[in-house]
Amino acid sequence: MSTVRHFLDIRDFDGATLRAMLKRASALKAVRAGLPRGAPDPEHPLNGQILAMIFEKSSTRTRVSFDVGMRQLGGESIVLNAADMQLGRGETVADTARVLSRMVDAIMLRTFEHAKLKDMAAHADVPVINALTDDSHPCQLMADVMTYEEHRGPIEGRIVAWFGDGNNMTTSWIEGASRFGYRLRLACPPELLPAPAIIEAARAEGAQIEIVHDAAAAAEGADILITDTWLSMGDEAGDKHNLLKPYQVTQALMDRAREDAVFMHCLPAHRGEEVTAEVIDGPRSIVFDEAENRIHAQKGILSWCLLGR
Ligand code: CP
Ligand code: NVA
Repeated sequence: MSTVRHFLDIRDFDGATLRAMLKRASALKAVRAGLPRGAPDPEHPLNGQILAMIFEKSSTRTRVSFDVGMRQLGGESIVLNAADMQLGRGETVADTARVLSRMVDAIMLRTFEHAKLKDMAAHADVPVINALTDDSHPCQLMADVMTYEEHRGPIEGRIVAWFGDGNNMTTSWIEGASRFGYRLRLACPPELLPAPAIIEAARAEGAQIEIVHDAAAAAEGADILITDTWLSMGDEAGDKHNLLKPYQVTQALMDRAREDAVFMHCLPAHRGEEVTAEVIDGPRSIVFDEAENRIHAQKGILSWCLLGR
């Protein structure tokens, strides 16, 4: 078995390991208090290390947060748009992984098929990090757990209500349920639920997951109301807008949740579709803290991958 420390999916780790990454993330965040944004951390453990970031899909947060995180830790990053690489002209993923392993210290990949990420990891001698595939988005889940806990304390035992499309983000929330101990309610149209195998696999590992097709019932007493874009990158619209309209996060849904409930969204958001402007721009929304925490959570992940701590 490979001893390279890849970060591919939440389900690959036990709760203690994920917790250790978040603890490191919080510690690294704390030492930056008062530092200018561009300043390196007081210690630069990734001095001389380079992260190659491959994008086959668009990105704002992921691209900037990994770059900034690497710089703060003393390292550097190279952004590679797949269309400009030989990968985009038919060079294999395996050869790309072998070549980059001779040149850089870690590879981050944002792609379509999850199999491509696995292929990259299977052929790389350096850590590969999942920066979103059609199937999952584990870095975002880590930032989201960190953000909720900064605002409201331990997420264990809390009720997380997911509204809308059963997509890559939903899968990472499903996989995180057993690792972090929150209770997950899925309020998705039946046609757009995540595959039953994903839900069953998580339940077999102890996840508490309820499927609640009625949005109002799902919001009742919830601690977190969370949603995502109706159309993920690469999706075809089809009938999705009609199917998803009843799952829009509105103030009326927020009013059914606990008084201290928060609204979360990985961004980018589409006001008037998955969430109303009133909610995402309202006082219970913590979406920009989530975005900032992508830097800190990923520094915890990079430390685990590259420094073993
Ligand atoms: N949330 C997120 O991953 O954002 P980007 O697509 O901008 O990277
Ligand atoms: N589900 C969205 C997340 C974007 C960060 C997508 O895949 O486009």
